[in-house]
Amino acid sequence: MKKQILVAGGTGYIGSHTTVELQNNGFEVIIADNLSNSKIEVLDGIEAITGIRPIFEKVDLSVIEETEAFFKKYSKVQAIIHFAANKAVGESVAKPLMYYRNNLNSLMNILEAMKEHKIPNLVFSSSCTVYGQPDKLPVTESTPRKEAESPYGNTKSISEDIIRDTVKAHPELKGIALRYFNPIGAHPSSKIGELPLGVPNNLIPFITQTVAGIRPELSVFGDDYSTPDGSCIRDYINVVDLAKAHVVAIERLLKNKNDSNYEYFNVGTGQGISVLEIIEGFERSTGKKVPHKIVARRPGDVEQIYADTSFANKTLGWKSESSLDDTLLSAWKWQENLK
Ligand code: UD1
Repeated sequence: MKKQILVAGGTGYIGSHTTVELQNNGFEVIIADNLSNSKIEVLDGIEAITGIRPIFEKVDLSVIEETEAFFKKYSKVQAIIHFAANKAVGESVAKPLMYYRNNLNSLMNILEAMKEHKIPNLVFSSSCTVYGQPDKLPVTESTPRKEAESPYGNTKSISEDIIRDTVKAHPELKGIALRYFNPIGAHPSSKIGELPLGVPNNLIPFITQTVAGIRPELSVFGDDYSTPDGSCIRDYINVVDLAKAHVVAIERLLKNKNDSNYEYFNVGTGQGISVLEIIEGFERSTGKKVPHKIVARRPGDVEQIYADTSFANKTLGWKSESSLDDTLLSAWKWQENLK
């Protein structure tokens, strides 16, 4: 019998790619999603790639009654991957209560259900945002977390604490938090990818929409940072590579290979890339010009951050494999496919 994994937020960007990798590795996936920031058609893409349509339930896991009803029906799942959260930094500054309520309630409701139905394993979507602007680069897992720059970032930090404290009090439960750096790109089939509703906040969808003629030009937020070319530096991780890290984390928990009940890993490439280098890379890999102008810094942006991934490489046996150019090309092919 296939092992059942609940993917909360499975029609979203990272959730859909992870569902594909789980199904390709022999797991049965149940997706729970409220479709607040994703579309049901994503299931067609997943099915086209894997030949399997995941089970889908429209449910809002931030609502306790809906969560309880859902888990009564699916109490036999062996593990949960929790992606279902709001993720727009700017929106979280404007609507902090919405972010705290949604992101924290859903996590706590899931943890309650894990206790009640004896579901031992949780993989949680965390973020490099928990490091703030680190004093030393690259960041390792022992780099101290800093006060979050935004309510969104704070929900990730608080969520990590909630998981840590809960598995400590309930040793039958185990959790792994994956601290993603900047996920980009799309599945090589171009059947699933990032689907921002409205004006994109993130760099790569803004670039692809600009090149597609949907936006007039990209604004580069600042060229006066203390970096070699003056623009901000991030660690851009291919979304399929990132999805594979979840499969490895799930297998680690299912096989009881974890060293402690709560573990956390950096999931990045280890390479710091500037915004201007992304534009160059996009132009190189696609042959398309990216119209852009330099504007003022975006409030709340950290100057630079990239991962030391050696802990994940050694402990999970996982590493990022795709080249930046291939990843940027995959993002463009996905955008073209949307036409
Ligand atoms: C942020 C969060 C990250 C979160 C992600 C999801 C922080 C430090 N990081 O990533 O945890 O998972 O959002 O939304 O809070 N840029 C431009 N022009 C644009 C858009 C972006 O120049 O139109 C630049 C930004 O200044 C930044 C880089 O591109 O230097 C990446 O920005 P973005 O894609 O928004 O991600 P982060 O802000 O790094």
